[in-house]
Amino acid sequence: MRSDVFDLDLERVVYPQWLFVDHESRIPKKGDWFLFRVGREEIIVSRGAKDQVHAFYNVCRHRGSRICLENQGHNQVLACPYHAWTYELDGRLRFARLMPEGFDRSDWGLKTVNVRIWHGFIYIHLGHEEPDDFHKLVSPLEPFIKLQGIENARIVHRGQYPVKGNWKLVVENYFECYHCQPSHPSYCKVHSQEYVLARGGGPGSAPEEALAAFETHFQAFKQKASSLGYPAGDFLDERGAQHLRLADRVPLRDDFKSETADGLPAAPLMGDFEKWDSGYAGVSLNPFHHLVMPQDFVVSFRFTPRDALNTDVELVWLVDGNAREEDVDVDRLTWLWHNTILEDKQIVEDNQTGVNSAAYIPGPYSKIEQLADQFVLWYLSRLGQC
Ligand code: FES
Ligand SMILES: [Fe+2]
Repeated sequence: MRSDVFDLDLERVVYPQWLFVDHESRIPKKGDWFLFRVGREEIIVSRGAKDQVHAFYNVCRHRGSRICLENQGHNQVLACPYHAWTYELDGRLRFARLMPEGFDRSDWGLKTVNVRIWHGFIYIHLGHEEPDDFHKLVSPLEPFIKLQGIENARIVHRGQYPVKGNWKLVVENYFECYHCQPSHPSYCKVHSQEYVLARGGGPGSAPEEALAAFETHFQAFKQKASSLGYPAGDFLDERGAQHLRLADRVPLRDDFKSETADGLPAAPLMGDFEKWDSGYAGVSLNPFHHLVMPQDFVVSFRFTPRDALNTDVELVWLVDGNAREEDVDVDRLTWLWHNTILEDKQIVEDNQTGVNSAAYIPGPYSKIEQLADQFVLWYLSRLGQC
């Protein structure tokens, strides 16, 4: 795996995306901050005055030292440990000792980074060009997320699953379910055979009987969801398009209300949901952030490239902000994706070991790996842009 290709990936593909960093509730109070690392960059995300979220490079404007050294903290100002230049929570330089006459503090604030908040999720942009219009980017996904009330949700569990593998293998694995039957026993308990096969999407993606069975199941669900005013169906960007966003809301296995081992809810209904309809939504803003949302909880998947052979994978589970502690069963609601992501970690690491061999030549995709194929096209089109 060549590190010069990884450098190109960062410049052309990763940094110019709106990257999800965390949920706002990670920094509830003025002075709270945390570090986000991607590639060679380290970003401080802070809560400043007027409740605003700020982000800037963790690079002192004096000689370039790191300023924040822990993963998170709470401070009224951020002081560089080297020569004590001191910055405000919005990155402005507040104080620098013994500087010559004519030194203007306002010229030496920290390099800031664009920030957007979407339903309580914080996104940053490290590209050099003008970022894509965030509002336009998220608007087609809005119907699939708005009932969930994520802006008021609270985190009940956070898990790190670092993968010894290139980020493209991690994303490719997330985008296909060809491996679900052989590799994900828990997933296949919650999702019907028909659904697993039909997930590739479109005619020819799965045996006809599987597609027909899923279609019958889906139509019954669609009727129920629409009668309640809940979405059903999907949105997917064109093949080879500039963006790779997807959103869908489809049924779980018959009679399952949630993605739990027995299908029973593990937390109260979230946000504006009032009734169970056995549906769940998936939303991906880009290949680096994905949401899976039954009606009682949200799982957020953050895939962060670190170097050519390492990818940080972090999962965060959220429930309704008003849910009482005694009504939330964290073990049951983390069961599926904790197990499944551990399986994925192993698969991807084994895949990476094989790919490292001089004998490796990519084979053809199956019919149900259409999304993985779409990801490759998207990646190549981003990489080709100068
Ligand atoms: S490098 Fe930060 S104060 Fe000198
Ligand atoms: Fe998987």
